[in-house]
Amino acid sequence: SKSEPLKVMISGAPASGKGTQCEMIVQKFGVVHISTGDILRAEVSAGTEIGMKAKEYMNSGRLVPDEVVTAMVTARLSLKDVKENGWLLDGYPRSSAQAQSLEKLNIRPDLYIMLDVPDDILIDRCVGRRLDPSTGKIYHIKNFPPENEEIQARLVTRPDDTEEKVKSRLQIYKQNAESVLSTYLDVMKKIDGNRPKEVVFNEIDTLLSRLQKDKEESSNSG
Ligand code: AP5
Repeated sequence: SKSEPLKVMISGAPASGKGTQCEMIVQKFGVVHISTGDILRAEVSAGTEIGMKAKEYMNSGRLVPDEVVTAMVTARLSLKDVKENGWLLDGYPRSSAQAQSLEKLNIRPDLYIMLDVPDDILIDRCVGRRLDPSTGKIYHIKNFPPENEEIQARLVTRPDDTEEKVKSRLQIYKQNAESVLSTYLDVMKKIDGNRPKEVVFNEIDTLLSRLQKDKEESSNSG
């Protein structure tokens, strides 16, 4: 019988490298990437009702109200592709209320990844970050410059990536991190995110490959 798909959460401060690692995880494991930040930014640029509610909060670096984000995530998690291919939740849950919403629905990860990066590095990563709006790919002006001038010309900066806003996002992250983490201590794995992205991915890859193998074995024997 087919084994149960992977269920993974990735957490960490702003610019700890969640989105960057998610690109690599999706490519190798085929799980469905659900990034609340990406979904919200898409809603804002499409000018939807959710986007209009979320915009001010996001641009000032504050959290969007729990009920808005939770409704969005639970709707996404219920779709067929997620049930078939598994999920990779990025940026959710981000408050204890959000974690409790998932607990009530009995939605738990196999693995909770916590990317650990020092504050001064986070600020430099945010200020240097650029996004390619046509592919969604994440760049950095020093660490990961674009491949060519055509891409370079279309890169954009996030409105919440100024030094001042990053500092307030970081503070909000720190206020919430512990209570979210305490929900997932049994499946939590802290990873040093202050290393080259391939090195960080290698460690995640090892963990996920082992998990996938365990799932395959238990479905074969059961
Ligand atoms: P969100 O989009 O989730 O932002 P975030 O958590 O602040 O995380 P980032 O996207 O800033 O960083 P990342 O960890 O993905 O790093 P990245 O890989 O890009 O949320 C944005 C906003 O939406 C929130 O402030 C809030 O308003 C709202 N929101 C979202 N979820 C919500 C929720 N659940 N509840 C309420 N509100 C919510 O990397 C960063 C940079 O570093 C890049 O330039 C990259 O190239 C570079 N880099 C990455 N890895 C490395 C490496 N190993 N070495 C060197 N450079 C690296």
